[in-house]
Amino acid sequence: MTKGVVAGIIANLVIVEVDGPVSQNEICFIKLNNVPLMAEVIKVLGQKAYVQVFESTRNLRVGDTVEFAGHMLEATLGPGILSKNFDGLQNDLNKMKSVFLKRGEYTSPLDEKSKWEFKTLAKVGDLVEAGSWLGEVQENWISHKIMVPFKFKGKFTIQSIVSNGTYHLSDTIATLVDTDGKQHKVTMVQKWPVKLAIRAYKSKPRPFKMMETGIRCIDSLNPIVEGGTGFTPGPFGTGKTVLQHALSKHAEADMIIVAACGERANEVVEIFTEFPELDDPRTGRKLMERTTIIANTSNMPVAAREASVYTAMTIAEYYRSMGLKILLLADSTSRWAQALREMSNRMEELPGPDAYPMDLPAIISNFYSRAGFVYLPNGTTGSITFIGAVSPAGGNLKEPVTESTKKAARCFYALSQQRADSKRYPAVDPIESYSKYLEYDEFIEFLSGNVSPEWLDHLLFAKNLLIRGKEAYEQINILGDDGVPIDYHLRFWKAEVFDYVILQQDAFDEIDSSTPIARQKYMMNIIINLVKDQYDFDTFDEVNKYFRQVINLLKQMNYSKFESEEFKKFENQLEELLDQRRVAQTASV
Ligand SMILES: Nc1ncnc2c1ncn2[C@@H]1O[C@H](COP(=O)(O)OP(=O)(O)OP(=O)(O)O)[C@@H](O)[C@H]1O
Ligand SMILES: [Mg+2]
Repeated sequence: MTKGVVAGIIANLVIVEVDGPVSQNEICFIKLNNVPLMAEVIKVLGQKAYVQVFESTRNLRVGDTVEFAGHMLEATLGPGILSKNFDGLQNDLNKMKSVFLKRGEYTSPLDEKSKWEFKTLAKVGDLVEAGSWLGEVQENWISHKIMVPFKFKGKFTIQSIVSNGTYHLSDTIATLVDTDGKQHKVTMVQKWPVKLAIRAYKSKPRPFKMMETGIRCIDSLNPIVEGGTGFTPGPFGTGKTVLQHALSKHAEADMIIVAACGERANEVVEIFTEFPELDDPRTGRKLMERTTIIANTSNMPVAAREASVYTAMTIAEYYRSMGLKILLLADSTSRWAQALREMSNRMEELPGPDAYPMDLPAIISNFYSRAGFVYLPNGTTGSITFIGAVSPAGGNLKEPVTESTKKAARCFYALSQQRADSKRYPAVDPIESYSKYLEYDEFIEFLSGNVSPEWLDHLLFAKNLLIRGKEAYEQINILGDDGVPIDYHLRFWKAEVFDYVILQQDAFDEIDSSTPIARQKYMMNIIINLVKDQYDFDTFDEVNKYFRQVINLLKQMNYSKFESEEFKKFENQLEELLDQRRVAQTASV
């Protein structure tokens, strides 16, 4: 193994003189007295390796020794990842006494002593390859597939496989023979370098199935797909974290992976204490049973942030290979980009815009491209839907991280300061935001066959309504309430109805927090009919008063259990109210 000595220290960047070969992204351990500090090679120049240290480098001295590990930063993959809290280096945070690890302390990601009930899914003589399912164990409610390690190249024949029974993680469960006749033992655990994508799938077509999120401003305006990508840029305090938590609770996914990246320490502690308490509306059990959290805080060295997003993605890819629908959330990827910037600056690289590294767009788009919908070799499907939060400094959407992410992610959910200030939550700007999946023919086909034949028309109608409403609002502002025809007020208020009833959603109300698609369709129909109908008013004041009442009744419906007596009562009241002013009714849509 290659060894080295510390030759220079610039905060978390350490320059090491090496005595042998080292490779990019290789892991090494710097010995501080007897404490090993983990670091990663980020640049090699002749005999000098530049390494980013995942720990504080306090007290480190020139001349301290370094040992290279011969492999990249790897994730340990096997049963027991679910429900865990890890840091970016996959230390199991539950195994520590205090909230954060001491320097140089590493804990093992999986419980070596745990035993699992293994059920065989393959037999002696089967031809297998990386990612083939050999068996399964029950992990909470997920049937966790034990796969041929992703590092195995080529075809293998199963020479032996254990029978159904209880085994330790490190027990050999199968022996495989490669085409040269060499034997390979397989256990329930494998390792994979986090910066490389796991490609044990047959194909990765464009995603096309809608992923229900229960969040109306997404599903009813800019829907995302299973295996799709999206991001939520938003200034401080506009609701990025609340939105991510709402998605984790309500989106249609088998497993949730949360990468809390560079958050303030108290926020991370909040996640750790809050998440285990949350009920899972889909299973009636605890949400944490299908969640894994990877957290690192703003007081940890910046290098660990990078590790946390890659570790989270690798775990997502591992579970996707089992045929599961994964939702991966990262809050916030800006803090990861800042980590890249700090390292790049310390290495005195030629800076790009705002001093971010020149290759920031490539790094971000490579990362987003690891999400996706895949067909596995056995014909089943799996997906990773990735939604990242971005915190643009000063809310400037032209800054490099937002711009680069815009090129990589296909859904854009821009949180607006103005909407947050007026408490229009979630503060997603309905006009700025978009879903590029609405341009995919296969998605449009899916919507019309699986959601409703009119769903796309309704979305487009709603977008148009909002734009016309905004135009009317601007005219009214310029010319005054009396300076415009009553029709402008009507147009403005019709858009307001959509805004208040569909877009705005109370994340903290038991009923309103999540809206199943059937209910979204029902409300959308009501509102589209209401908007298409014609009404008679003499003064703009009447319009204002009337539509406030309309909105109030519709909001009462939102807060009532769907199709309950209460819900119907408000709906009847709404009908009566509409009859008072309606002069022409359009045919039902
Ligand atoms: N959908 C919602 N329903 C009700 N309140 C909301 C909603 N979204 C956001 N809020 C309110 O906005 C506050 C700030 O939200 P949040 O912490 O998610 O912002 P943030 O963008 O993550 O901030 P930071 O940039 O500091 O991380 C919340 O505490 C909550 O009061
Ligand atoms: Mg936040």
